Amino acid sequence: MPYSRITMTHFLLQEQRRKGGSGSFTALMTDIIFACKMIAHEVNRGALAGNHGLAGSENIQGEDQKKLDVLANDIFLHMNELGGNYAGMASEELEDIHAVTGGAEGKYLLLFDPLDGSSNIDINVSVGSIFSILRLPEGANTIQEAAFLRKGVEQVAAGYALYGSSTMMVITTGNGVNGFTLDNNVGMFMLTHPDMQIPADTKEFAINASRSRFWEPPVKRYIDECQAGKDGPRGKDFNMRWVASMVAEVHRILIRGGVFMYPADSENMKKGGKLRLMYEANPMAFIVEQAGGLASTGRGRIMDLPPTHLHQRVPVVLGSKNEVERIDAYHAEFDGK
Ligand code: AHG
Repeated sequence: MPYSRITMTHFLLQEQRRKGGSGSFTALMTDIIFACKMIAHEVNRGALAGNHGLAGSENIQGEDQKKLDVLANDIFLHMNELGGNYAGMASEELEDIHAVTGGAEGKYLLLFDPLDGSSNIDINVSVGSIFSILRLPEGANTIQEAAFLRKGVEQVAAGYALYGSSTMMVITTGNGVNGFTLDNNVGMFMLTHPDMQIPADTKEFAINASRSRFWEPPVKRYIDECQAGKDGPRGKDFNMRWVASMVAEVHRILIRGGVFMYPADSENMKKGGKLRLMYEANPMAFIVEQAGGLASTGRGRIMDLPPTHLHQRVPVVLGSKNEVERIDAYHAEFDGK
């Protein structure tokens, strides 16, 4: 039977029945699925639709926005506002929170990076969308930034869409990690990667090595040891990858293991790191931990960090458990702990 697979909607309904939920969570996930399908369509049309190139504006991070950054952000806001399931949203591309019209009628908050890895758009390499869902705090009837500033451990769901050689969505609701592939012929995401697990060991690392002159000693030590290969202290050869799209890197790690690092270094330290806690690090940390991996700053669990502001940046080390533990140990040793 060609259509024996479970669709993502059916999968979510099954989860909802198991948890005895009201259906509002399934409805809000449906809004995100619509948004990701639309973004996939626009990424796929690329230059044909005039979607490549710069938008001529800067985001709150001071980065040049690409046309698709702006379009993907508009799609996310529009589709998720229509459903009425959210009280508010926060986006990597927006300076302030976006309170949904109608106030706190929705019971959830949505945080998202509408198009991660956007330097890859014009060169036709994988990009993605990342999202994180929080429950609206009890009794909150006005939506302010403080409602969003919650630790990663409070996320009720997180996921990403990968616009690669096929379009995929990978999600967690705190009960493992499942991956779905978009069947373009029927317009539905089908469960293709049930219960994704990250192997505890790996021979692959991902880091932007052009920044090696800025690295702290524990990071330099770890990479030097990997590069020394089977004649070095690790006694095995390592491979290296760098896609410059966190979604693609995390997806590779979920499929075959590995470690991904965007550490704090002497150049980005004053900003706290490069990647954003609320839109990138927390949702990816939730997914990675649910798949048996670890996600750390090098000096502590990412999901335990109390956020101080919406656009906060953090160092990120995530992936195969034994490698992340080793990198944490190198930091502790360096710090004299
Ligand atoms: P952006 O969405 O602004 O392009 O950021 C991408 C992020 C992340 O996805 C990726 O791992 C990293 O930044 C790439 O950084 P480099 O440009 O230093 O390679």
